[in-house]
Amino acid sequence: MSETWRPEVIQALRRIAPAERVLTDDLDLHVHAYDGTPLLFHPPRAVVVIDSAEQIPPILQLAHQHQFKVIPRGSGSGLSGGSVPVEDAVVLNLTRLNRIIELDEANLTAMVEPGVITQTLHTEVEARGLFYPPDPGSSKICTLGGNVAENSGGLRGLKYGVTKDYVLGLEVVLPNGEVIWSGNKCVKDAAGYDLKHVFIGSEGTLGIFTRILLKLIPKPQARKTMVAYFHSMRAAAEAVSGIIAAHVIPATLEFLDNVTMRCVEDYAHLGLKLDYGALLLIEVDGHPVVVDEEAEKVMQVCRDHQAAEFALAADDAEAVRMAAARRVAFTALARMRPTTILEDATVPRSNVPEMIDVIEECARKYQLQIGTFGHAGDGNLHPTFLVDERDADELARVEHAFGDIFDGALRLGGTITGEHGTGTVKMPFLARQYNDPTLAMMRTLKAVLDPEEILNPGKVLQPGRRFGEGLLERPEEALGVA
Ligand code: LAC
Ligand code: ZN
Repeated sequence: MSETWRPEVIQALRRIAPAERVLTDDLDLHVHAYDGTPLLFHPPRAVVVIDSAEQIPPILQLAHQHQFKVIPRGSGSGLSGGSVPVEDAVVLNLTRLNRIIELDEANLTAMVEPGVITQTLHTEVEARGLFYPPDPGSSKICTLGGNVAENSGGLRGLKYGVTKDYVLGLEVVLPNGEVIWSGNKCVKDAAGYDLKHVFIGSEGTLGIFTRILLKLIPKPQARKTMVAYFHSMRAAAEAVSGIIAAHVIPATLEFLDNVTMRCVEDYAHLGLKLDYGALLLIEVDGHPVVVDEEAEKVMQVCRDHQAAEFALAADDAEAVRMAAARRVAFTALARMRPTTILEDATVPRSNVPEMIDVIEECARKYQLQIGTFGHAGDGNLHPTFLVDERDADELARVEHAFGDIFDGALRLGGTITGEHGTGTVKMPFLARQYNDPTLAMMRTLKAVLDPEEILNPGKVLQPGRRFGEGLLERPEEALGVA
């Protein structure tokens, strides 16, 4: 029983936070033992549901004194294992730090706490005619703190960029308990090093965010949503290049392959046409006149690329239904087999057709069922492996396929992860992307900020092991099921 784990630590935690918010029941530990990543599970020793940012520094000091690990966590919807506990860990659940502290309409900024749900901010600012563009697939449940920690992307990355493009300032508790602030409401700021960018995307390994200053923009006045079907993935990918070449940058330019379309239809009954090889979901937004012109151009490009069918949403309800086909893709795929392993390989958008070929070749070579969907316009693809974790041979084939997919993405000038982060699952592949001095610099950064490895250790960078070493000999270890 966990109550027997270091009673002096539990007592000290209960002096820092309200006693009832220091959880040690098996059920509470169980629900904090995993995130959205398959095959990873490790219960913490305790969970502290933080209800004041002031509780965080003394907990980190206590962690140094008693040598336990601290894992910050939002909603736990991450897809790379970033918030899964390690040995002797106390989870800090930050979801109660969920205030929107200020919406500054003159400066177009929002000051928020890390536990605010992304969609809550969307709703609040849109009610005022403003817009916070980053829109991760999990926006209904994920937190802004988690978005900053993973540098989340989403469905509007192509036109509007990703989370890092909207972070103006960060308050961060360092692993030693000191609190720093980096950034401000100024559009221009050239003072000193831009430290906030060290922490954006650091996956809870370098500091814990307690306040986040975000940039807002005016809400686009109009939007048009379209769906186009193509006979093959390659034809759809070429249409994507054609749209960009016509100098239209849609807010959303997403695709589903045939496997994904079938799963979505089975799940959501949207009336998708299942005879085609690929579906593109396209949304253009902005001034109404520009939106009309861009929608016209998109339609023309799709025609030029032999789109088999094309439809423009007549009203908001139809637009929502069209977008739903893409929104539910992951959920729909996850129903098919016991285990769903979602990847995140990303390439410069001009190389999407080649990357699709790499993925299709993997499915053939390793005899795996892969449904692919994703953010075609920004080159961020989600090949999703539908497997059974009890089948060791199938898992080993998945591991080989990962290797091929990441090598393919890197050969095409891409990255092993566009928006889900390195976490635990992609850690062994990082050495394929960066050379030794680059990795050494990342390690140095961690060592300077957290020399005793208190904060979310064993994520992003694996100390004491050459990156990628032994990966294929021990696929179960790389997948975190050892
Ligand atoms: C999405 C998540 C899985 O695009 O990244 O839906
Ligand atoms: Zn995505």
